[in-house]
Amino acid sequence: MDSKTAIKVENLYKSFGKGDAYISVIEGASFEVQKGELVALVAPSGAGKTTLLMMIGCVEDPTSGSIWLGDEKVYDGKWLTKETRRIRREKIGFIFQAHYLIPFLNIIENVTLVPQTNGVSKEQSEKEALELLKYFDIEDKARSMPSELSGGQNQRAAIARALANKPQIILADEPTAALDTKRSVDVVKMLKKIATEQNVAVIMVTHDEAMLPLCDRVLTIENKKVVSKKSDKTKIL
Ligand SMILES: Nc1ncnc2c1ncn2[C@@H]1O[C@H](COP(=O)(O)OP(=O)(O)OP(=O)(O)O)[C@@H](O)[C@H]1O
Ligand SMILES: [Mg+2]
Repeated sequence: MDSKTAIKVENLYKSFGKGDAYISVIEGASFEVQKGELVALVAPSGAGKTTLLMMIGCVEDPTSGSIWLGDEKVYDGKWLTKETRRIRREKIGFIFQAHYLIPFLNIIENVTLVPQTNGVSKEQSEKEALELLKYFDIEDKARSMPSELSGGQNQRAAIARALANKPQIILADEPTAALDTKRSVDVVKMLKKIATEQNVAVIMVTHDEAMLPLCDRVLTIENKKVVSKKSDKTKIL
């Protein structure tokens, strides 16, 4: 695979259930996302956006097809490793609509949880976490609990957490849904900055058209397939 490609999906199918409960969601999706790209994933509710992110994130089993993450082929009709958890931990950072910070851990404990699970020392992971929190302008909140932060601060902490294990890929499912337009623009600009500076591929599900000019490209799901469109960067926010 091209060394610039972070995600490659080929002829991916996904259905759920059997008999009366059978539903086909994705039928033969093929697309790539390059390193350094911030791509918006836009499609109507129920079209399969979350399902697609969860398959790329090795959380949801595809029905058939192939998935490459970086230079590793991870799925080809079946998972090619028993350790999908390792792939998730090593390569992927997830950001969700609700921030999902663990409420009984303070901010720095939330951010250092995965690196420490991966074997990074407490001292080293805290040093790196503080740098990330500084980058997101919430360094002073390191020892605060999530309930003591605003929505935007919590979402920035959640992005810091997603970055803490230095992922090659960030999968963000409506990360700005709970934020006002100004905060949303800040978060998306930050994701673009991370993509560019750290050569990370970001797929961001959004229903907010105002965010699209900030993205490099738009992916949509049409006829159960993934279609790539240019984002309109000429629109002024
Ligand atoms: N575990 C499951 N079992 C059965 N059907 C499912 C399951 N997960 C998702 N679906 C179905 O798959 C389709 C796609 O769901 P998905 O959550 O991916 O949509 P979405 O595009 O993320 O929608 P939204 O914008 O509302 O979040 C829906 O019809 C949903 O009901
Ligand atoms: Mg969804």
